[in-house]
Amino acid sequence: MLKETSYLDWNDSIRILNKAYEADLFVLIIGPKGTGKTSLVRDFAENKNMKLESINFSLRTRESHLIGTKTLTDGTVNFEEGLLIKSMKEGSMLYLDEINAAEADVLLRLDEALDDRRQIILKESTGETVKAKEGWFVIATINPLTHSGTKELPPQLLSRFPVRISLEYPSENVELEIVKRHVSGNHDSEIIQAIKLANILRQAAAVEELFYSPSLRETIAFGKLLEKGMSSKESAKIVFGNVYTQWGNIEYQKVSDIITSMFGN
Ligand SMILES: Nc1ncnc2c1ncn2[C@@H]1O[C@H](COP(=O)(O)OP(=O)(O)O)[C@@H](O)[C@H]1O
Ligand SMILES: [Mg+2]
Repeated sequence: MLKETSYLDWNDSIRILNKAYEADLFVLIIGPKGTGKTSLVRDFAENKNMKLESINFSLRTRESHLIGTKTLTDGTVNFEEGLLIKSMKEGSMLYLDEINAAEADVLLRLDEALDDRRQIILKESTGETVKAKEGWFVIATINPLTHSGTKELPPQLLSRFPVRISLEYPSENVELEIVKRHVSGNHDSEIIQAIKLANILRQAAAVEELFYSPSLRETIAFGKLLEKGMSSKESAKIVFGNVYTQWGNIEYQKVSDIITSMFGN
């Protein structure tokens, strides 16, 4: 497997995560997609040499994913632990990704484990009380409320994560440094141009002039296509332009005109 690219800590987030860990305070990371939330948490867990258990929340996430399910093998009933229980027992790091995409009942069950006692009653099986092992740590992420499918977190659950890190898109120079961690060769000027384009589209999306806001995933993909020999104009069309065709020709044309003005005909 390829070695994962190291995280560029432009936001001083690792220091904050370390302090939160030392103080036994759980962390909430707020930011739009592709701003490095998952990479930050992976990097932090790796630095701390901690096992990382991850749950990606959606409307389909059930309590059983967190708590566990009864299984029947050869006539015996077993209980297969969910990731919340598993991580509590291990004292590992639990990553709750896009927690605000989950249904309220699922969140309520989480709340039980996250309060100061750090314990949960397994009413699903033996009724035993699971107490988190020393060092158990939880980091959750939420997308801003403007994202489709996201709901407001119940305030009580929000208060379980008193350390909040807000991750926005980085500045142009920082974004260039990040893209260069993923792409080899010297394409600085074209990549800067793509970052400028991305920022124009992000700003337009922020005021709802466009339906889609490109993330760092797109600026990295643009760099990777250049690395494979594609022209910057074609890469820009493919990575940044074509996605807008799903909202029709008017939406697409707005972006296409910007691309032409920045990358030529
Ligand atoms: N600070 C950073 N340093 C290195 N790579 C980054 C950084 N921020 C974002 N990336 C890269 O951008 C892409 C999207 O990041 P990701 O962590 O998946 O974002 P999110 O979880 O916020 O959606 C990944 O390829 C990731 O490696
Ligand atoms: Mg992520």
